[in-house]
Amino acid sequence: MNVKPDFSKNANMAATAPAFLSIYDMHAYYGESYIVQGISFNVHEGEILALLGRNGAGKTSTLRAVARMDAPQATYGEIWLDHQPLHKMKSHQAARAGIGLVPEDRSIIPGLSVEENLQLAQIAEPVGWSIDRLYDLFPRLGERRKQEGVTLSGGEQQMLAIARALARDIKVLLLDEPYEGLAPVIVDEIEKTLIHIKEQGITTVIVEQNAVRALELADRSVILDTGSIVFDGSAAEVLENAELRAEYLAI
Ligand SMILES: Nc1ncnc2c1ncn2[C@@H]1O[C@H](COP(=O)(O)OP(=O)(O)OP(=O)(O)O)[C@@H](O)[C@H]1O
Ligand SMILES: [Mg+2]
Repeated sequence: MNVKPDFSKNANMAATAPAFLSIYDMHAYYGESYIVQGISFNVHEGEILALLGRNGAGKTSTLRAVARMDAPQATYGEIWLDHQPLHKMKSHQAARAGIGLVPEDRSIIPGLSVEENLQLAQIAEPVGWSIDRLYDLFPRLGERRKQEGVTLSGGEQQMLAIARALARDIKVLLLDEPYEGLAPVIVDEIEKTLIHIKEQGITTVIVEQNAVRALELADRSVILDTGSIVFDGSAAEVLENAELRAEYLAI
């Protein structure tokens, strides 16, 4: 844990080669508020990583900093995606580099149908999955292609938000509480699609209050507590470790 990925050419690559997505010594502020307090972790290509922690731990701030959103306003440290320095980029550049953030509020665009929401996402190059392929993944969206996106049910809106991310050619999907407010049967449905997305080679970071569901899906987990990392290891280890769960996840 907290091993600096090697970004130089001449050091020992075997011990410290950067992972697919490497976050090194990242700090983030909202104004004077110091929120993310020097975190380092790796996400390996093709895996699902569950980023967990109590309310206010800094999970959303971490995702937003990786996606280079305007808030948190000041971030320090290095973020590398497939040898690209995200820490030097603005959000639209990070999106082009392959980051797809699905925010907690889902951000469906009012006044646009399901299909128009997807078409709008495809205006940005490079284009990802075709709309037909997205409807294969989410048949409910295909059935409702003409319906206004904001009138979909919560679960359908979550599907549209994920589909919209895939409509661009992304390498990493960042999901902020995708199961929030959804019935277990809908969570099952979305989980199946996340497994399919993984099988297509896309790397996923999932933030979830429903930690058990996220851990059952994930390969590995990173747990945050007040802006610092307190665990970095396998998801199974967290599921088996009742003490860890009680202390940092309250489950
Ligand atoms: N725009 C903002 N301005 C100031 N402080 C903020 C802002 N957004 C978040 N914070 C603060 O940063 C801290 C971390 O928030 P963050 O949203 O990253 O936590 P989280 O782990 O996602 O929590 P939750 O599980 O409740 O979603 C909190 O103390 C929060 O109040
Ligand atoms: Mg959050």
